[in-house]
Amino acid sequence: MSSSIYSYVVLFFLFSIVPYIQSQPIAPAPTTETSPINFTAVLETGHQFTTFMRLLNTTQVGFQVSVQLNSSDQGMTIFALTDNAFNNLKPGTLNGLTYQQQIQLMLYHIIPKYYSLSDLLLASNPVRTQATGQEGGVFGLNFTGQAQSNQVNVSTGVVETRINNALRQQFPLAIYVVDKVLLPEELFGTKTTPTGAPAPKSITSSPDADSPAVDKEHKSSGSNVKRTSLGVVLGFIWFCYSFIYIYIYLLKH
Ligand SMILES: *[C@@H]1O[C@H](CO)[C@@H](O)[C@H](O)[C@H]1NC(C)=O
Ligand SMILES: *[C@@H]1O[C@H](CO)[C@@H](O)[C@H](O)[C@H]1NC(C)=O
Ligand SMILES: *[C@@H]1O[C@H](CO)[C@@H](O)[C@H](O)[C@H]1NC(C)=O
Ligand SMILES: *[C@@H]1O[C@H](CO)[C@@H](O)[C@H](O)[C@H]1NC(C)=O
Ligand SMILES: *[C@@H]1O[C@H](CO)[C@@H](O)[C@H](O)[C@H]1NC(C)=O
Repeated sequence: MSSSIYSYVVLFFLFSIVPYIQSQPIAPAPTTETSPINFTAVLETGHQFTTFMRLLNTTQVGFQVSVQLNSSDQGMTIFALTDNAFNNLKPGTLNGLTYQQQIQLMLYHIIPKYYSLSDLLLASNPVRTQATGQEGGVFGLNFTGQAQSNQVNVSTGVVETRINNALRQQFPLAIYVVDKVLLPEELFGTKTTPTGAPAPKSITSSPDADSPAVDKEHKSSGSNVKRTSLGVVLGFIWFCYSFIYIYIYLLKH
């Protein structure tokens, strides 16, 4: 009589862990390439482009990109900025830009043509970007490197950085990861800017208002994962403890 009660208790604990087993993620169905490319979905898989995606949204450049991707036969190349790239900016750099300049900065990270990594090395410098022609500026990017090593550097005249890896390299869209914000000479050069705006490096107001938000987002998502796994571990320990306790109890009786 009493042993059957214990069997029920054991069964109860076994069933209580079944949902964990069943909640294993199911592999998503493969997407068809015939539908328009959703580049924000590509960026989301990277999980490190929160500020870049936010800026693409607030400047509406992201919307422009998706429309152009769907209509242009040239394809597109995007230099995706990691959150690290923004964290390494001098404090207040982004806030020192007007809305129009933020748009120009985003457009500067987009080339209205598809380039594979090796194509970039063959392109003639400076390569026109989506920002080229804005207020009469060149807004060009220079690419250097060795074809053998497949190592390509991008230079703006203000910053030079390595192109880390390709998030996607398939016509009509190439997305390359860069760890430094590509600061255009037209906005950040030592020469006077076309708009006569002060160079952002001299701006000291609103120190670092952009990056802490990013940090918070990162930390909270990280701690959520930790909290969830801690719960699972504690639940498992509790389950094992109960199981052993009941087993010993059954042996004694
Ligand atoms: C693109 O993907 C994102 C994230 O997966 C989603 O929120 C958005 O609605 C998608 N846009 C389109 C046009 O499908
Ligand atoms: C983009 O901005 C619009 C408002 O302009 C907002 O409604 C939307 O939620 C934003 N999308 C993302 C993914 O942040
Ligand atoms: C993409 O372009 C096609 C026609 O070229 C149009 O029918 C479709 O609505 C467009 N899709 C988006 C998401 O803009
Ligand atoms: C880019 O390349 C062109 C042509 O080689 C050169 O004239 C220009 O000075 C370069 N600009 C930068 C910023 O390196
Ligand atoms: C590429 O840029 C890095 C700095 O980010 C520099 O150390 C390296 O020498 C450059 N490589 C070439 C081939 O110019």
